[in-house]
Amino acid sequence: MAGNQQPEVNIGLVGHVDHGKTTLVQALSGSWTDQHSEEMKRGISIRLGYADATFRHCEGLDEPECYTIAEKCPDGSESEPLRTVSFVDAPGHETLMATMLSGASLMDGAVLVISANEPVPQPQTEEHLMALDIIGIDNIVIAQNKVDLVSGDQARQNYEEIQEFVEGTVAEDAPVVPVSAGQEVNLDLLMQAIEEEIPTPERDPDTDPRMHVARSFDINKPGTTADDLAGGVLGGSLVQGELEVGDEIEIRPGREVERGGQTEYVPIETTIRSLQAGGKDVDAATPGGLLGVGTGLDPSLTKGDALAGRLAGPAGSLPPTWDGFTMDVDLLDRVVGTDGEEGEVEEISTGEPLMMTVGTATTVGAVTSAREGECEVNLKRPVAAEPGAKIAINRRIGARWRLIGLGTLKE
Ligand code: GTP
Repeated sequence: MAGNQQPEVNIGLVGHVDHGKTTLVQALSGSWTDQHSEEMKRGISIRLGYADATFRHCEGLDEPECYTIAEKCPDGSESEPLRTVSFVDAPGHETLMATMLSGASLMDGAVLVISANEPVPQPQTEEHLMALDIIGIDNIVIAQNKVDLVSGDQARQNYEEIQEFVEGTVAEDAPVVPVSAGQEVNLDLLMQAIEEEIPTPERDPDTDPRMHVARSFDINKPGTTADDLAGGVLGGSLVQGELEVGDEIEIRPGREVERGGQTEYVPIETTIRSLQAGGKDVDAATPGGLLGVGTGLDPSLTKGDALAGRLAGPAGSLPPTWDGFTMDVDLLDRVVGTDGEEGEVEEISTGEPLMMTVGTATTVGAVTSAREGECEVNLKRPVAAEPGAKIAINRRIGARWRLIGLGTLKE
């Protein structure tokens, strides 16, 4: 029974490199989901890892001991599945912030992992929390990890640092649960906090389905003959509605075509040939977890993430495609992850390049006009998005793109 349910909620795992995200997700899920095709699995674990965990309940035990991932309770009876959650493991490495931000648009809540044996905050702890703040993810649980490595006094001191750090942010009221992912201590308490703080969002099954495409693949081995070629595969998450095998979908902005020396993007239409959710083939998929969509597309169109960042849904239901847009801008006071005075965020200026994350799309644009609180950009690659969409704005500082503020797409 375990793991047979489709996941119903996406929970981001965020935090500084080596603070224990992978260890924690392994402790909660038993293992990484491995039912996806090799290509898909390999790709996604590099960019965005998903792992499903079924939280279960033992009748007759008090909280938190009643929460478990084991199928058998201590008295030998069967545990009852509560729900399957999908953890989206965002990379902690600093250059992968854009991936973290694209993942954030798929998260219904987040677990922020903070190591108890290091000063708070470490650079990506701060940057990831800021990203959650910007994207507006406020269902947060903080896992104070590696408590096995510190004394009681050190754990309390670290706890106070955490409280001070989250003051005034979306995580201000988040419970802080001391755990050891490595020693599997207090995982029941963490599950209880997740059950209480990160509810499954209410979904309307009758709304038009919409998928955020985070990856795309050609799953064929080199040398496969034309007759045996499998169609292109899309990987990502459904954020609303329901998709079924046989559905016709449109993908926007679609694919790049050259016309008279100009590059244009043309929406693509295709039929869903297969669906993989919760690691198995299904006829219909609902929001939550990683979705693999087999299509009738020529695999050369989907190869190597060529369609990452796109939206998919019924033809005519998708939001407009933008080659450029005007956005309201809210700048941060300070560049996250920097120390001292070099960290002050300067106003956006006309002509400067910015990197923007909109949904799962990341695109670079040049500022064509900048006023206080607003700017216009021309995009290198267009994006499909609803007016009002949130945009993470990054500026090149030194060798890397740094998060400097939040944009809101104007009509
Ligand atoms: P990235 O994916 O690279 O961002 O790292 P991560 O946050 O996933 O960290 P990971 O789970 O790989 O853990 C980093 C190191 O910390 C590993 O050597 C783990 O074995 C160790 N570790 C994780 N959790 C615990 C814990 O609770 N106690 C102790 N003692 N070590 C832990």
